[in-house]
Amino acid sequence: MTHENYLQAVEKLNLYAYHYYVLDDPLTTDEAYDALYHEAVAYEEQNPDKIAPDSPTQRVGDRVSEGFEKAAHLSRMWSLEDIFDASGLEKWLTKTYKLDSNITFYCEPKYDGASLNLIYEEGKLSKGITRGDGSIGELITQNVKTIRSIPLTIPHKETIEIRGEVVLYKEEFERINQERLQNGEALFANPRNAAAGSLRQLDSSITASRKLVFLPYGVGENTLTERLLSEKMEKIYSWGFKQPPLRATCQGFSEIEAIYEQMQTERESYAMMLDGMVVKVNEIAAQIDMGYTVKVPRFSVAYKFPAVEKITRIKDILLQVGRSGAVTPVALVEPTDIEGVIVERATLHNFDEIDRKDIRIGDNVIILRSGDVIPKIIKVLTHERTGSEKPYARPELCPVCGSELLDEGALLKCQNLRCDARVVNSIIYFASKPCLNIDGLGDKIVEALYNAHLVRSVIDLFGLSKEQLLTLEGFKEKKAQNLLDAIEHAKGCDYYRFINSLGIEHIGEVASKTLADRFGFGFIDATKEELMACEGVGEEMAESVLEFVRVNRQTILELQNAVAPKEPQKRAEAHDNPFKGRTVVLTGTMSESRDAIKELLESLGAKVSGSVSKKTDYLIYGEDAGSKYDKASALGVACIEEKEMREMLK
Ligand code: IVH
Repeated sequence: MTHENYLQAVEKLNLYAYHYYVLDDPLTTDEAYDALYHEAVAYEEQNPDKIAPDSPTQRVGDRVSEGFEKAAHLSRMWSLEDIFDASGLEKWLTKTYKLDSNITFYCEPKYDGASLNLIYEEGKLSKGITRGDGSIGELITQNVKTIRSIPLTIPHKETIEIRGEVVLYKEEFERINQERLQNGEALFANPRNAAAGSLRQLDSSITASRKLVFLPYGVGENTLTERLLSEKMEKIYSWGFKQPPLRATCQGFSEIEAIYEQMQTERESYAMMLDGMVVKVNEIAAQIDMGYTVKVPRFSVAYKFPAVEKITRIKDILLQVGRSGAVTPVALVEPTDIEGVIVERATLHNFDEIDRKDIRIGDNVIILRSGDVIPKIIKVLTHERTGSEKPYARPELCPVCGSELLDEGALLKCQNLRCDARVVNSIIYFASKPCLNIDGLGDKIVEALYNAHLVRSVIDLFGLSKEQLLTLEGFKEKKAQNLLDAIEHAKGCDYYRFINSLGIEHIGEVASKTLADRFGFGFIDATKEELMACEGVGEEMAESVLEFVRVNRQTILELQNAVAPKEPQKRAEAHDNPFKGRTVVLTGTMSESRDAIKELLESLGAKVSGSVSKKTDYLIYGEDAGSKYDKASALGVACIEEKEMREMLK
């Protein structure tokens, strides 16, 4: 590959990523992207001094920091005054028109996440800083680079601060909490905490594994000459930043009210959570004239959406059984209107939560419909108890199949693999987006197929005929054909999707990718040692894979036959070299990204592990090596500098 071809490849990769992460409208397949990505990596390995600053390889989350440095914002980050209703808006407008009667307004969502300041110098992202106290925040540039909707380079060469909110989409928030629930970790209370927590990870690979999204809402220090804020924002979007789901320029009270109403009705369908709408004076000159109070700008206000907390009563507690057999309690409440949505259920997460909050049937409780995620109970009104409330007894039998439950403390589990709920939910999971992504195979249809005895396990999906589908209620020719096409289309998927779809406990999408890349179809024969040598795979995960394969080997093979996933390319056997078959750990800053060096060593037949142990053969270190170096020295592991490693390869 010539340098020119390489630059073209980087440009194409960035275009693909822009369509995928910013426009939510993919241009190509994961496979085509990965193939091109690997070509770029190969070139960068050969030409470490010619890596383009906007190459997607520069985003990899492979650094672990010891702590975050502090960094100053170039100009202060402010907060906003809140208003809650039309009369608040009227008062604010009166006050603002007094300062300047000749103004218009720019309205956009108030996102519920964590604020972030991005500094670009000479067109390159140079710093990512959390809000902190408004003047000084924490420097989290490495983590910020893993966020795919943040461009690494922009066409604007003068120094500029771009401010915005880092959010987790509702779907991702639920996914992370589900994962935490399964791992017995504390749940994030809301997407804001989850976003802030994910941003401030010392291990940037954790940040990278959470799908954070950046939504710009303004600029700090800047030399842009546009007269209107709306024009500045359009310019920023044109540099590759994400656009809000709704924005508008407004003339006055009634136009602002109309947009506010629209946003409030539509917010349910937005991917991210909002907690209001921000109204800003659109004329930059007027903004500068109006200036700031001690805390907030005079030219801007947060028009919050109404409270989403209500008092209701728990009528009963229902039990849901998931695909892993985990039984989740759900509170059935008196139907309550929370901002136009009738809430009838609230999640209780797990049984420890019921004990901790001392939730009883008949209790009056405060429920929160936090912008859109599943409503939850935030407080039990114990002072309102009459004595007729019934404490909740933990179930001993599965509510669906009646078999005995295994009590794991917080979690109760149905052990029966043939339990209807487990089977149905595993089929739903198999067809879901991160797995085989079979369009049109949602909860209702899976249940119907199962109840009609047409699909009793996932493999049956591949033997469905149109005649069979036409026997189901609501199925006509077109719908039946669409479903068959979608199933056919899922064949030949990436192998990691296939592994993920098996639903192995503790093995999510990221681990599935790791296993697919490392072992290909051979993952069912991997030993515990081989599994644990993979980045991010611990003992519990390895044992879970082994146990699953032991019990289900035949089923996996049959299913693999039916799905015919693509096998990821395996590496050729490495020629003899000092690192072949050795276990190596990398630390410190090296001349290339750590992923590139990992690739290089793996291509030489080394196992690159994330942590130092007695089994480590070499610790290879770059600048600022930290605790791993100390640990390796203490264990007597050979520590060599990156330079030395390269010498050994000559
Ligand atoms: S403008 C000049 N616009 O809300 C005023 N802030 O309550 C600076 N936020 O710290 C803020 N969406 O993190 C602005 N469209 C939006 C926003 C937004 C969310 C956050 C931001 C700020 C907080 C203030």
